Amino acid sequence: MENLNLIANKSTDRIAEIFYGRTIFISGATGFVGKALLEKLLRITQVKRIYVLIRNKKGKSANDRLQNLFTNVLFETVLSVKPSCTKKCTAINGDVNEVDLGISPAYRQTLINEVNFIFHCAASTRFDDSMRTAFVLNVRGTKYMLDLAEQCKHLMLFVHISTAYAFHLEAKTLEKEYKSAINPHDILKDLNCLDGSFGKKDVSELSGDLIYLRRLLQKVPNSYTFSKSLAETLVYEKVGKIPIIICRPAIVIPSYEDPFPGWFNNLQGPMGLFVAAGKGVMRSIYMDCKTSANLCPIDSTVGSIMMFSWHYLTTKNSPYIFNLCVPQTDIRVTWEEILEAGKDVIKTKVPFNGILWYPGGTMTKNRLYDQFNFVCFQLIPALLIDFLLFLLGYKPLLYKVQMRIRKGGDMFEYFTTKNWSFETTNLETVREKLTDHERKSYMVKVEKIDMKKYLTQCMLACRRNYLKETDDTLPAAKRNMKIMFCLDRIVKIGFFVFLAYYMFKIFKFLL
Ligand SMILES: NC(=O)c1ccc[n+]([C@@H]2O[C@H](COP(=O)([O-])OP(=O)(O)OC[C@H]3O[C@@H](n4cnc5c(N)ncnc54)[C@H](OP(=O)(O)O)[C@@H]3O)[C@@H](O)[C@H]2O)c1
Repeated sequence: MENLNLIANKSTDRIAEIFYGRTIFISGATGFVGKALLEKLLRITQVKRIYVLIRNKKGKSANDRLQNLFTNVLFETVLSVKPSCTKKCTAINGDVNEVDLGISPAYRQTLINEVNFIFHCAASTRFDDSMRTAFVLNVRGTKYMLDLAEQCKHLMLFVHISTAYAFHLEAKTLEKEYKSAINPHDILKDLNCLDGSFGKKDVSELSGDLIYLRRLLQKVPNSYTFSKSLAETLVYEKVGKIPIIICRPAIVIPSYEDPFPGWFNNLQGPMGLFVAAGKGVMRSIYMDCKTSANLCPIDSTVGSIMMFSWHYLTTKNSPYIFNLCVPQTDIRVTWEEILEAGKDVIKTKVPFNGILWYPGGTMTKNRLYDQFNFVCFQLIPALLIDFLLFLLGYKPLLYKVQMRIRKGGDMFEYFTTKNWSFETTNLETVREKLTDHERKSYMVKVEKIDMKKYLTQCMLACRRNYLKETDDTLPAAKRNMKIMFCLDRIVKIGFFVFLAYYMFKIFKFLL
């Protein structure tokens, strides 16, 4: 029997219907969100063509990269039910960093003539990119995408993927326009004002605006959220001129169900923390574990983006800004609950191969305690092991790994130490207009999530698809985990016996 969730039935799926026979243009389709969106469009709709903006990378052409995309496990389902769907996709060689997206004039004309929907997902998503790098891609790149959209003769909708974290101006981020801290056009006039050397310039060399910008740049939490806020500002300017919606996802996590549970694309998000913790190399993280985690599974993210597109096109006076995370009324889960459940899964159900130590450690909002744990349980052991590797003639590597993990944790801190709250009225209102079938097909209501079951699926998918650890190695990994547990306890008991012995000796000496 055909799984209703896998292929939409045109007559019962009003969302799929808006894409019927349409031409789509997607940027960022090799990334987490873009890839899942491409897959869902191919699987569940009857689009005419999908143009995908891809840059040449690591010696691979845009077309090679597109073909390679379809080898991702995510596409297995759609390829099994629609084997020729990839023929609908055309790679367009381009680069969002370049003027006018670096697209050839011929392809640009094709897009102008044919495109009905634009999904702009490409972005610099590294929180530690330089301000210039983030600005060029996220802000100037968005400007070029909007310029193209304005020229498209048959554009029905431009979907801008922003982030729920772009603005933190009030306790709860509402689904409305916010004023960015600076006018992006002021920076677009001269990108040099973002360079590192600018920050060091003497105040006397700067005009009033630039002094303000320098002070501002010193205060912004990271280049990512700052540049995304400026990009949104550019999008607001086009509202009313072209059909536009802005989708602001919170933290996107692996798929809940569709097309299979646990799929994710890279280790940048929470899965990176789980892998580092599961391998035993990460033992401390600075976070407020009591704060709520604002998460959205990727299948729900993509389904919601498609649902918002449908709503905007079919409803008079539809809102055009949508915050996107699982509403707190559906699921309320703290970071502590997630990490504790994850630790349990990693230790007992789905351990990884080749772990360095028994997974454990602390989450704390005490900076000093976190630093202490990091130095004692991550840094010093890493240096010792590296020294041993060096003596044995191998290349030391753990110090580097630890520094990368630390940097990743530091970058995540902005999102996990504040009590973020997002209005989700539009998501809740729009999904109520769907039929049960549509709600299920687009995964826009994820209720009663069994965190342990979900994380078990995520870790299994992570082992298989990301770490390339086959399931037949699970029993050995479980045995190894038990050995590591014993070793961990022996070392800990040994350490305390040693400590007690010397305390006793000192005490005796003092008496
Ligand atoms: N993932 C999340 O948790 C999350 C949360 C909130 C909002 N968002 C937003 O969702 C959107 C997609 O995020 P993501 O997680 O999918 O990011 P991602 O996995 O890092 O993917 C980024 C995409 O942008 C493309 N890209 C980067 N530089 C490019 C360039 N110069 N020219 C053309 N393409 C370029 C990348 O292509 P290459 O393969 O060529 O590098 C990749 O396809 C972003 O706007 C992000 O801000 C994501």
